[in-house]
Amino acid sequence: MRSFSAFLFAVIITASRSTSWASVTIPLTKLERTGSYLQGSPHADGARASFLETTSGPKTIPATNVVYIQYTMSVGVGSPPTYYDLIIDTGSSNTFVGTGKKYVRTSTSVPTGQNVTVAYGTGFFSGIEYNDTVTLAAGFAITNQSIGDALEFAYFDGVDGIIGVGPVDLTRGKLSPDTGALTPTIMDNALKQGLIKQQIFGISFAPATTSNDTNGAITYGGIDPAFYTGNITYAPVTKTLSAAHFWGINVTDVTYGTHTVIPQSTAGIVDSGTTLVLLADDFFSRYLQAIPGAYLDVSNTGLIVIPPSSVAGMQPLNFTINGRAFSMDTAAQLIPLNENAIWGIETGVQYGVITKLGADSGRGLDFILGQKFMEKYYVVFDADHNRVGFAYTNHTFSTYLP
Ligand SMILES: *[C@@H]1O[C@H](CO)[C@@H](O)[C@H](O)[C@H]1NC(C)=O
Ligand SMILES: *[C@@H]1O[C@H](CO)[C@@H](O)[C@H](O)[C@H]1NC(C)=O
Ligand SMILES: *[C@@H]1O[C@H](CO)[C@@H](O)[C@H](O)[C@H]1NC(C)=O
Ligand SMILES: *[C@@H]1O[C@H](CO)[C@@H](O)[C@H](O)[C@H]1NC(C)=O
Ligand SMILES: *[C@@H]1O[C@H](CO)[C@@H](O)[C@H](O)[C@H]1NC(C)=O
Ligand SMILES: *[C@@H]1O[C@H](CO)[C@@H](O)[C@H](O)[C@H]1NC(C)=O
Ligand SMILES: *[C@@H]1O[C@H](CO)[C@@H](O)[C@H](O)[C@H]1NC(C)=O
Ligand SMILES: *[C@@H]1O[C@H](CO)[C@@H](O)[C@H](O)[C@H]1NC(C)=O
Repeated sequence: MRSFSAFLFAVIITASRSTSWASVTIPLTKLERTGSYLQGSPHADGARASFLETTSGPKTIPATNVVYIQYTMSVGVGSPPTYYDLIIDTGSSNTFVGTGKKYVRTSTSVPTGQNVTVAYGTGFFSGIEYNDTVTLAAGFAITNQSIGDALEFAYFDGVDGIIGVGPVDLTRGKLSPDTGALTPTIMDNALKQGLIKQQIFGISFAPATTSNDTNGAITYGGIDPAFYTGNITYAPVTKTLSAAHFWGINVTDVTYGTHTVIPQSTAGIVDSGTTLVLLADDFFSRYLQAIPGAYLDVSNTGLIVIPPSSVAGMQPLNFTINGRAFSMDTAAQLIPLNENAIWGIETGVQYGVITKLGADSGRGLDFILGQKFMEKYYVVFDADHNRVGFAYTNHTFSTYLP
């Protein structure tokens, strides 16, 4: 078994990358980085080459599931562009490069005179802000996009930075000397420059079958019906702080089989930069207690451990969003045993993806629907109508074969 601190580092960092920081404080254990499983740099070259181009309107661009815990996309910066593998983060809004591959300046790179610092849950970056040309796909190049060149940073092994697709307000307070200024996001500039007509993007993630699986897609400027089935159910962006600073929504209740996990309307966020699904501690306790013999491996991994004898009896964990059940079936709640080695967790032990947030409910951000939830559904982030949409996919339900 890999050093637990390595693992905790990896999970907690991604589980917290975007839940930050000005407004939300989620207790996290800061640990020494001793792990190595993120050392292999993700490659999205194939992805870049095979982007799907539509003749007009929305652009669908591939996304890669890297070591099961994060999604990256290949983003070009400069002219000619250098390509970087950036984490797709709906929970933060600054875009930056330089944590792996260094920033390559070209004639289009113009310093803006600002320094930038963004603190994430357990990591941060700090550097110099530039305007540059950012290429998301052929024919989809944003000019004068403000990006950071990370000169100092922590906890970005194996990736080159972040593409932040959260609300622009999250960029406030990150620049210096213009501490009050906002940094327009990729979405803001794409709209302003006429590359997209709607400030909407759709994300399709799916459970990976390998540790480097380009099985995802992000559509800029609209939604792509190829990636979902049936109708999209929308929930308004919540007015409850601090979830309201993010892509936050209310769920009206959450059940695990016949057990109530969240009894009333509660605000939380949808965050692609978080790997797991986090529930406020009191809600998580109800889930834990409903699974015979399950416990939270607090000191080692921070993950729930489920006895093999309880797996067959597991029930769906249902989130009700605007009247419709969005269910995580047994497969969705568990880490496939054949992934344990890459996660760096003990082989043969059945871990799960639902864990606790680190504080009781009542703080206005009481759950995080992270990557492992998003892998089951198509999710639409609609700034034009201030809402988040969810649709079923071909892989919403699956059978768990331990
Ligand atoms: C990831 O996949 C890409 C394209 O399929 C490939 O070029 C690359 O070598 C793979 N990287 C690793 C670390 O396996
Ligand atoms: C950077 O780009 C913004 C538009 O996105 C523009 O307003 C600003 O003047 C540019 N700054 C420099 C130094 O070119
Ligand atoms: C970037 O913005 C500046 C200031 O508005 C402008 O002078 C420059 O032409 C713009 N550059 C590009 C490539 O659009
Ligand atoms: C920007 O950062 C540099 C070091 O990288 C520092 O020398 C400079 O004083 C900083 N400027 C501001 C305005 O914070
Ligand atoms: C989902 O399944 C249907 C029916 O088998 C198929 O037509 C469609 O292409 C699939 N969609 C995706 C995104 O795989
Ligand atoms: C989609 O929504 C429409 C209108 O609300 C409804 O009539 C239809 O039955 C729904 N279809 C599915 C597949 O849920
Ligand atoms: C949970 O959702 C699934 C899928 O919609 C549904 O089949 C099941 O009946 C729901 N369970 C409860 C207890 O509502
Ligand atoms: C959303 O949840 C919060 C609790 O997190 C609650 O105070 C608020 O009333 C809810 N909003 C709606 C519209 O139900």
